[in-house]
Amino acid sequence: MTITLRIDERRALHDVDPMIYGQFIEHFGRQVYGGIYDPSHPLSDADGFRSDVIAALRRLRIPVVRWPGGCFVSAYHWKDGVGPDRLPSFDKAWCVEESNAFGTDEFMRFCQKIGAEPYLCTNAGTGTPEEMSDWVEYCNEPRRGRWARLRIANGHAQPFSVRYWSIGNENYTGGEIGAKTAQQWGPFVRESAKMMRRVDPGIKILAAAVPDVDWNLALLRSAGDLIDYISIHGYFDEAWETNVLSGYRKSLQAPARFEQSIVAVRGLLCALGLEHRVRIAFDEWNLRGWYHPGIADFSRLDPDHDHAAAMRALNEINTQYTMADAVFAASFLHLCMRHGDMVTLANFSPTVCGRGLIGVSDTGLVLRPAYFVFDLLRNRMGTHLVDSYAQDMATVDADGVPVAALDAVAALREDGVLTVSLINKDPERAVSVQLHTALPYACAHRFSLVSPDADSANDFDCPDRVHVEQGEQPLSGPVQLAPHSVIVLQMMP
Ligand code: AHR
Repeated sequence: MTITLRIDERRALHDVDPMIYGQFIEHFGRQVYGGIYDPSHPLSDADGFRSDVIAALRRLRIPVVRWPGGCFVSAYHWKDGVGPDRLPSFDKAWCVEESNAFGTDEFMRFCQKIGAEPYLCTNAGTGTPEEMSDWVEYCNEPRRGRWARLRIANGHAQPFSVRYWSIGNENYTGGEIGAKTAQQWGPFVRESAKMMRRVDPGIKILAAAVPDVDWNLALLRSAGDLIDYISIHGYFDEAWETNVLSGYRKSLQAPARFEQSIVAVRGLLCALGLEHRVRIAFDEWNLRGWYHPGIADFSRLDPDHDHAAAMRALNEINTQYTMADAVFAASFLHLCMRHGDMVTLANFSPTVCGRGLIGVSDTGLVLRPAYFVFDLLRNRMGTHLVDSYAQDMATVDADGVPVAALDAVAALREDGVLTVSLINKDPERAVSVQLHTALPYACAHRFSLVSPDADSANDFDCPDRVHVEQGEQPLSGPVQLAPHSVIVLQMMP
């Protein structure tokens, strides 16, 4: 079947904020220690960062990284992680010892190395508005106050100028340390935002939300005038207790569920008249929920904390992450582009290790399928979204639910190049797409993420099973999309 895709590049929709390609690193498993930061490793640089990991991250031109959590942050005290004498603390979120060797200064150095902006998530669990605003002082106040002076004494004369600050993480869930009720949350956010803005009025403040009207209404009515983003999270596989992951077809249901979250929050912001001022940050998203049995609801906490921590190594199995993850990641980023008038920040969760884009071991690293989606879209796609629609409908069976086989977005680059991202979600059938554009093009470059089958993954013994192929795309006939593939075209005027 040939699908006609009509693109009107003269009809601009909105600009896509590059911050949708953001990333997230948490103190969980090997993400920090043994992932990005490993001072004793032979591949690490003078600052203790894995140079192979840094190089792979730099290739993605990551615009922003969220840190230090996630659940971890809700019992984290940032002052434990600065200065020459770092005392270990017991991480009450993940029941492991936190050495505090990696703290604010190390995170800022990491962001400098990969060219990303820092985004700090504050402790709204056991923390206080004062502790949050002290962190803003440490990072952003040039010289006044004990915390700015401490940063200078720690060797950083210039402020870090951190723009993005989240008040809390998922403080609505029972599993979160220091969880709060909807009635407590709004006023708490207001007091925190007030103190943080007193230190630096220019910061962008995010606050945790859920697709729950009562929680969000209370938040927005109490503090809607003081926050810049409402933060939502999404994991399709609720695998935290089971590590049971969806197969390819079932995973195709995920984008629609994530879009429901966006639409629900959009509607609330519009109902409250905040849609022109408060943006949506999808600042944790992944097809796969992380595996950490006994923690999510605390009812089945493993008394042997070391065993519980060891179980989390099951997140690190590279072959679990297949073209299902890549097709989902591309579909989610298309979603963010289509909702780009309100979704202006997103953070893949996590970036390194665990269920991340890159699997890291003591001997090297593996680029997993979803990594290449970020490489393709971040580095090949324009940001000026233009109108496009598929004139025909081909569906694929998503485990009993029909979903459209083709998912496409089109955007112009500054130089007038028309970029088109095409996803064929069908795991078995190729799809032909006949492009109809408003303007003529001389030629087209093609970048295709391809794999032998829908369950293909990369691993140390076969690091390129899933890879990107480049070539020229003839403009005379239809564009052929292989099964389970992501293709970006660059059409040259
Ligand atoms: O499973 C990891 C956790 O997912 C993050 O720490 C938290 O923010 C989210 O619930």
